[in-house]
Amino acid sequence: MDRTAFIQGLPKAELHLHIEGSLEPAMMLDLAGRNGVELPYADIAEVQAAYQFSNLQDFLDLYYAGMGVLRTASDFFALADACFRRVGADNVTHLECFVDPQAHLCRGVRFQDFMQGLNEAARQAAGRGLEVSLILCFLRHLSEREAFGTLEDAEPYHGDFIGVGLDSSELGHPPRKFRNVFAAARDLGFKLTAHAGEEGPAAYIWEALDVLGVERIDHGNRALEDDALVARLRRDQVPLTLCPLSNLKLRVVPDLRAHPLKRMLDQGLLVTVNSDDPAYFGGYVNDNFTRVAQALNLGQTELAAIAANSFKAAFQATEGPDG
Ligand code: ADE
Ligand code: ZN
Repeated sequence: MDRTAFIQGLPKAELHLHIEGSLEPAMMLDLAGRNGVELPYADIAEVQAAYQFSNLQDFLDLYYAGMGVLRTASDFFALADACFRRVGADNVTHLECFVDPQAHLCRGVRFQDFMQGLNEAARQAAGRGLEVSLILCFLRHLSEREAFGTLEDAEPYHGDFIGVGLDSSELGHPPRKFRNVFAAARDLGFKLTAHAGEEGPAAYIWEALDVLGVERIDHGNRALEDDALVARLRRDQVPLTLCPLSNLKLRVVPDLRAHPLKRMLDQGLLVTVNSDDPAYFGGYVNDNFTRVAQALNLGQTELAAIAANSFKAAFQATEGPDG
């Protein structure tokens, strides 16, 4: 069986996908027209041509501008419905999906608008065999006080989220900045995860684990710079949600052949493969598996182990490939 068919056949959980990062250029232009939002692009080719990034911040600037076209509950439904259908087509049966409420609230979009659209799309996805859980992310370039405000604003929707995460500009915004709001979220019963070690140093991964108390690390690429950290991640089997095509586009790695995934697997770390912001980075989860497998020459045993890891790493009790 060829590699692509083998990957397609593996049941998978996707644990690192930002719903706003699934906004495909065609939908961005369509919603911009309908909502009267000005974009600096005339057509899909111009949008795609703009997706050249030298680092995380370059991408985030376009990502926040792009999501400005999302205004109503039906816009969020259209976004999530298209995303969940596309994710399901890759034989993903469980999706834990990040949402950036602060990026919408600051534009005057209300919690009830985006939650209504996202919840309805998730309900319909469940009927097609894709279980979707939402994770509320705090934007780390904002203050902890603002994160607390968002946690409070989210109160009517606490039951709709399984966990909280931490994303946006990493350098200069260490996890410890959010220690109190993560403690509050834990007390409310939320699962905890955080982006760490994407551009930031290994020290941020230690902080995410020991100061925030997260159960999972999003990215974690730079963990390999610190042997004691690798030993800790191995001992506790802390899941890392790796995103190879994101790392390539944001120049976290110069080439997929330099991606740390295989070295991490060889060192006994619990790694998973995910798509991050698929509309911006050139592929959904199977594309990520295929491209990284080609670059690192991963065999079927390794690919099956990575897919099985995704169910071990999931927050929500879920049916893995072995039940
Ligand atoms: N928000 C969306 N994608 C992100 C990423 N890769 N890193 C940090 N914040 C993000
Ligand atoms: Zn991410």
